[in-house]
Amino acid sequence: MNRNAGNIDLLHEALKMLAARFSVTLPMARTIASNFRNEMKSGLAGYPCRLKMLPAFLGKPDGNETGTFLALDFGGTNIRLMLVELLGGRRYRIVRTRSFPLKEPLESCDYTSAKATGETLFDYIAGHIKDFIDHERIYDLGHTFSFPSRQVGTNEACLICWTKEIRTRQVEGEDVNRLLMEALRRNGIENVRPVVILNDTVSTLLAAAYKDADCDIGSICGTGHNTCYLERCFKGQGPMIINIESGNFDQLPFTIYDDILDGRSDRPGEQRLEKMVGGHYLGEIVRLAVVDFIEKNMFPINLEEDSPLRMPYFIKGEHLSLIMADENPGLSKAAAWCRDCLRINDPHWELLISLKTVAEAVSKRAAFLAGATYIGIMDHIGYRCSNHTIAVDGSLFEKMPGFSDNIAKIIKDLIPEGDLIVKVVKAKDASGLGAAVAAAMARTSSSFQ
Ligand code: BGC
Repeated sequence: MNRNAGNIDLLHEALKMLAARFSVTLPMARTIASNFRNEMKSGLAGYPCRLKMLPAFLGKPDGNETGTFLALDFGGTNIRLMLVELLGGRRYRIVRTRSFPLKEPLESCDYTSAKATGETLFDYIAGHIKDFIDHERIYDLGHTFSFPSRQVGTNEACLICWTKEIRTRQVEGEDVNRLLMEALRRNGIENVRPVVILNDTVSTLLAAAYKDADCDIGSICGTGHNTCYLERCFKGQGPMIINIESGNFDQLPFTIYDDILDGRSDRPGEQRLEKMVGGHYLGEIVRLAVVDFIEKNMFPINLEEDSPLRMPYFIKGEHLSLIMADENPGLSKAAAWCRDCLRINDPHWELLISLKTVAEAVSKRAAFLAGATYIGIMDHIGYRCSNHTIAVDGSLFEKMPGFSDNIAKIIKDLIPEGDLIVKVVKAKDASGLGAAVAAAMARTSSSFQ
């Protein structure tokens, strides 16, 4: 296709409009925060609403928990096993760690697809646990399970529904730690006792609170998105961490690309916030926008029918990070990625700048939306009652250029003036440390501290 000035003008115009459509202004962020807070209230009162507000049956640690625990982190992409030693005095040590994928690289084996069942999945995990442990000693295991689950105590969690497009059969509606225990038994592992199960946001909060007493919010900005917080007095019983399952919030400014993505997803209408914030989805939003531009003739390229750019979910969060981090005047890293991965031999500047602009707009919107919900939570807790540390874990927060700065920025812009101190920190070793802390807390009679 010939490049012509008309098309390029059109492209610049379209990019400007697109950036505007993805922008979250301060008044919009305030409205989102306030609607989010109202939804939290409805959820806590038991009214039907988008936020599940699931009690974790855990309060906050005091930092003096001790012991050595096995931690299992089930996030959806990988499984991680860790041996964690809590030393008390807010100190700990990660003794050993090992990760393995739930999907083999060539997808010869995929434990997250509808071909797998709960039994095959947990047998696979048990096999890895067997290789990881020492058979002479007894282990208490804390299980970080990153999906919406209804708990009736610290060691029983029924999966409500899969998210992040996982489809493994015969797990929804089941008590996940029971599935794990049965698999351990089937695999002859008698020295591992699952003692606690918790959401990854809860692990994040506990891990950070073990070190910093001000931490009262834990959040994940990774493949998926969700937040939990410490409710100071839950149903008159005392402090309780609540897993909000905030990814299901939906009072949001959607673009046409969000609607298309949602319509083609496994669960249309669900997890709308997560579909705008989670790393699993950001690349797909960018892909939809860029393909739309190409189809509207704004890029001087012909897109073959089998082009990777036509493949849903081909663009991953890490690709966006690479493109956004490219500060070279010719965007040479982005160009190399287009050549190597998209098989576009001579990527034009217009394509590169469009990819970068859209990626930045989508990432900034994600950070601002997450930040707006944190404000809603702090509004609910009450700003002046204490300082707040918001602990965040996940690949976007850690690795996506500008993401954590954008969260800090929107929070700074939205909090009322005054003496309040809000820190947004990266939760180190969150899933392992948090699971170990929870296991220690579950062992003592009162986990409601
Ligand atoms: C799940 C949450 C989880 C989040 C981050 C979401 O898809 O529903 O339970 O905390 O992902 O992993």
